[in-house]
Amino acid sequence: MTNFEKLKMKIKEVKIICKILDVATESYSVDDHVRALGIKYTEAMSTLLFIADGKRKIILLRRDDRNVDLKKFKQILKANDLRFANEAEVKAFGFEVGLLTPFLLDSSFEIYVDQKTTEMNKVICGSTVLDKAIETTFSEVLKNLSSYQVIDVTIPNPKRQDQASIQRVLSGITPSGKGFHIGNYFGAVKEHIEMQNRIPETFYFIADLHALTTVKNKEVLEANIMSIVLDYLALGLDPKKSIFYRQSAVPGNSQLTVVLANYISYGQMKRMHAFKDKLQKGASVDSVNMGLFNYPILMAADILLYQPDGVPVGEDQRQHVELARDIAESFNHTYKQDIFKMPEPLIKEEKIARVVGTDGERKMSKSLGNTIEIFADPATVKKQIMSSYTDPNRVRATDPGKVEGNPIFLYHDLINDDKAEVADLKERYQQGKVGDVEVKEKLIIAHQRMFGAAQAKRKELENDLDTVRDIMADGAKRAQAVAAETLEKVYETIGLK
Ligand code: ADP
Ligand code: TRP
Repeated sequence: MTNFEKLKMKIKEVKIICKILDVATESYSVDDHVRALGIKYTEAMSTLLFIADGKRKIILLRRDDRNVDLKKFKQILKANDLRFANEAEVKAFGFEVGLLTPFLLDSSFEIYVDQKTTEMNKVICGSTVLDKAIETTFSEVLKNLSSYQVIDVTIPNPKRQDQASIQRVLSGITPSGKGFHIGNYFGAVKEHIEMQNRIPETFYFIADLHALTTVKNKEVLEANIMSIVLDYLALGLDPKKSIFYRQSAVPGNSQLTVVLANYISYGQMKRMHAFKDKLQKGASVDSVNMGLFNYPILMAADILLYQPDGVPVGEDQRQHVELARDIAESFNHTYKQDIFKMPEPLIKEEKIARVVGTDGERKMSKSLGNTIEIFADPATVKKQIMSSYTDPNRVRATDPGKVEGNPIFLYHDLINDDKAEVADLKERYQQGKVGDVEVKEKLIIAHQRMFGAAQAKRKELENDLDTVRDIMADGAKRAQAVAAETLEKVYETIGLK
């Protein structure tokens, strides 16, 4: 009998009041289920299985907007060692990873219920099969637990709290150069693409007006724009799921910029880092390009016009999103109406947010020439990987090497989906049993595995530029519809209608 059949029997036998829900998903992850079911994280509950001191089977029921404080949990359990059960252990106890249910637990498990879980009314939890979930109430869940203990062991999970209320996100990327590198991908683009599946409305645009601060050559600008458009589409930006457009194609971006400039002071603008950086690099105040000085106002306009809840950006752009909030607040306050929504900057943890360059020192960046590109020809990618910095203290392949902080292994962690191979390479590297060349060659192969399909897709798109132009025209039309609505409201509010 399958677990799911057992579960159905139990439901009948114990008269558990519940509903079996169909979940339109192919992968098991809480994020996926929450999205597919259209529920909130505060309505989802996970049954987590831990192993304490190598033998105790610990179950924790947790509401999914919370993270487990492992240190605290360990103390409560008076355990020396506490970790998630691995796949083999979960299987040995008769379940599958990610497919546990509170209804089939027996007395061989020590069961803990996080206090926040007890606040749940509606509960959606796992069912032991991928595409079904159980909807019930917390008291029904309790009915089935032979014995349990309520503890206070979780802390808020900021990511899930944000996302629970985020309906619309927007982000832009400046076409100041050509060709995405893995820093762009893992720092920004990958998340943009994943958000398409998680967040109902995603707006992504090519900030071509912003590029004018540095690019003043027609052919170069045109080539940069097309290059970014193709890179994005090849990597999975789906114009059916996202509104994808060029900033300059929506006149409202420029129109709103002119209006918003009146709700911010020179003093505040002077503090913006794009401007300050320029001065620091030796430019005199008088020579600073006004496009650069006004850059944050244009950015505020291209955010506020679309009324997003969240703006996923790198840490370097936080100040600009905050300026957009200041401008929105000043405008709303002036007219005593909530015309603009306050956008939240959505910023990743530093650890994943910054990919180090092949010089092993600075952030990977086009202008520093320390990149591993995604769409360059194989010979270039090979050269970029082969010339990457590794462990400088390792002279011979037989010397034990350092894995921690070694850029080649950081790249393996990001790019190489063969985790067993990565673990093996790391182990041998530390023991002095593998040369840099082999580690790098495996990375080249992994790069091809991860990006090969995108490279092929890009070639296809290059041969069908008409379709690409249609996609952008359609995106601009849809963006314009949203922008026009806000602009209309703004003109009406200030007396220009
Ligand atoms: P570059 O520095 O190569 O010119 P951009 O400044 O155009 O790259 O950055 C485009 C996007 O990619 C931005 O959202 C930025 O935060 C992200 N990004 C760029 N370099 C990195 C990196 N090394 N690590 C993480 N994210 C990066
Ligand atoms: N200034 C951003 C960058 O250089 C690009 C950008 C322009 C942007 N407008 C935006 C990002 C609005 C987010 C939202 O990376």
